[in-house]
Amino acid sequence: MKNIKAIVFDAYGTLFDVNSAAEKCKDKIGEKWEGFANYWRTTQLEYTWLRSLMNRHKDFWQITEESLEKSMKVFNIEPSMKSELLNLYKNLSPYSEVKGVLKDLKKKDYKLAILSNGTPELLNELVKSNGLENIFDNLFSIEDVKIYKPERKVYELPVNKYQIKKDEIAFLSANTWDVSGGGNYGYNAIWVNRNNSIFDNLDYTPKNKIINLTQLLEIL
Ligand code: LAC
Repeated sequence: MKNIKAIVFDAYGTLFDVNSAAEKCKDKIGEKWEGFANYWRTTQLEYTWLRSLMNRHKDFWQITEESLEKSMKVFNIEPSMKSELLNLYKNLSPYSEVKGVLKDLKKKDYKLAILSNGTPELLNELVKSNGLENIFDNLFSIEDVKIYKPERKVYELPVNKYQIKKDEIAFLSANTWDVSGGGNYGYNAIWVNRNNSIFDNLDYTPKNKIINLTQLLEIL
């Protein structure tokens, strides 16, 4: 990878562990917690795509709540747990290597940014509650264009802001469809394959695959 000027990270699932909210309630939810967490995440993403296609935008926090309501019904989870789960979702934990790698990258000469479906408020809170507020140059939110990834207008946000070429951006996501979206747009997209998953057939094969962010330092 040459001429990289900006490193742009997806947030949910890439820097922050989307399953950590349900995991913190696993004593109350029981052994179905993981199936429930995966169902909630899948429904949340489906709602982003469906709302984009229907042209009926709601922000990511509303979508997170509405997908949670459905998931709790499907998994027979006590309705009183809703506010606890939502509060935990606001303060998701980062994956263990994230803080160290970001601090090392900060010493180098790259723009560092998040590009996410999350609202500006959610992203600010996530970054702040995890002590990362001095790391990022920008937190790009799809709220600026009111349509969700993988719409190209979303991936355009950092290119327009930094006035650099698409392939001067290293874009990292653990969500395969987001890697495909960013890669098809023209980013140097890197797949963070945390769970030994299978990649998609969506016209883009990432040249670089890493198992966590520590390997990013070697690639750069
Ligand atoms: C995000 C979702 C895709 O942060 O995880 O944009």
